[in-house]
Amino acid sequence: MKDILDELENRRREARLGGGQRRIDAQHARGKLTARERIELLLDEGSFEEFDMFVRHRSTDFGMENDRPYGDGVVTGWGTINGRMVYVFSQDFTVFGGSLSETHAQKICKIMDMALQNGAPVIGLNDSGGARIQEGVASLAGYADVFQRNIMASGVVPQISVIMGPCAGGAVYSPAMTDFIFMVKDTSYMFVTGPDVVKTVTNEVVTAEQLGGASTHTKKSSVADGAFENDVEALTEIRRLFDFLPLNNREKAPTRPFFDDPNRVEASLDTLVPDNPNQPYDMKELIVKVADEGDFYEIQKDHAGNIVTGFIRIEGQTVGVVANQPMVLAGCLDIDSSRKAARFVRFATPSKFRS
Ligand code: HXC
Repeated sequence: MKDILDELENRRREARLGGGQRRIDAQHARGKLTARERIELLLDEGSFEEFDMFVRHRSTDFGMENDRPYGDGVVTGWGTINGRMVYVFSQDFTVFGGSLSETHAQKICKIMDMALQNGAPVIGLNDSGGARIQEGVASLAGYADVFQRNIMASGVVPQISVIMGPCAGGAVYSPAMTDFIFMVKDTSYMFVTGPDVVKTVTNEVVTAEQLGGASTHTKKSSVADGAFENDVEALTEIRRLFDFLPLNNREKAPTRPFFDDPNRVEASLDTLVPDNPNQPYDMKELIVKVADEGDFYEIQKDHAGNIVTGFIRIEGQTVGVVANQPMVLAGCLDIDSSRKAARFVRFATPSKFRS
């Protein structure tokens, strides 16, 4: 019996090492945490229950049969954030660049199925070079299964994606279908393929930042809802967002204890809106003053500033805010701000009220 337990512990140790210490060091040197370190920060301490730790890929092409790390490049399971259930997958860039194989996809699909069954959100921590090149169509079929579940889960459980490394191909197509997408500045990218492949195929020289960096996607394309300074800030802020959201479409958003007196008088609001309609004022000042404890979680703050979207609480209850911002373009609606508001309202409206 002791031999079996020792063997199990050895395998666990090996699984925790992912692609090996050298690649873990390289990950740290880039200012990135490992897949497991990220899960530890995201979830309540000691709450993570891992599934499929010893899954290995089945590929035998290109010598892959000689390199079969446990876990196959993704850590999956469930845990809690402030006591509320959530399913998580965290891709491990140290194992074949976090690329998605047939078995890697099956692990993700399994937790997505469980999330749907149990009515809990899914958070994906993406750090992946996309489809695993060595597996060809088996890997592409794996993405088809993940995409299918993204669609099935849409409007049923919240899906949150955090892009935490150079993500290419399917590793960004799937997040693009989720409810909220966040990035980490200077270490994360979202592109169809990387700059080297772009150079080879089109001869165009483009930097990773221009092609799919946080600034491109939060300011210009609006694919991402926000960007954070580093992994730690990103994961802390995801925990904060999670607290505003319901677990699924049958439950209400959580009501939190509040310490903001409902009878509080905010005298400055009497003068915030100028008498002269041609004079702008800062709508965010109004939002913050109305919110419980001044807590405003802004979504897409760097895109289409003429409209402001995000979450606050009033008497502990989550409220979605959509507001014109007179400080930018006089708060007029244009195509970008209309799309930004529509996307937010789509999420915030219960599915029974949607046509
Ligand atoms: C297998 C991959 C991989 C992939 C990276 N690696 N991407 N292995 N399949 N898709 C491996 C590398 O060989 C390397 O292995 C390790 O991961 C780290 O990669 P580097 O290139 O050294 O890292 P970096 O310079 O940071 O560049 C990361 C990258 C780049 C930008 C992601 O690797 C890249 O452009 N990869 C290809 C991206 C791509 O075209 N993916 C396919 C998308 S198509 P070692 O052993 O050296 O550590 C797709 C289709 C979806 O996803 C369609 C769905 C229907």
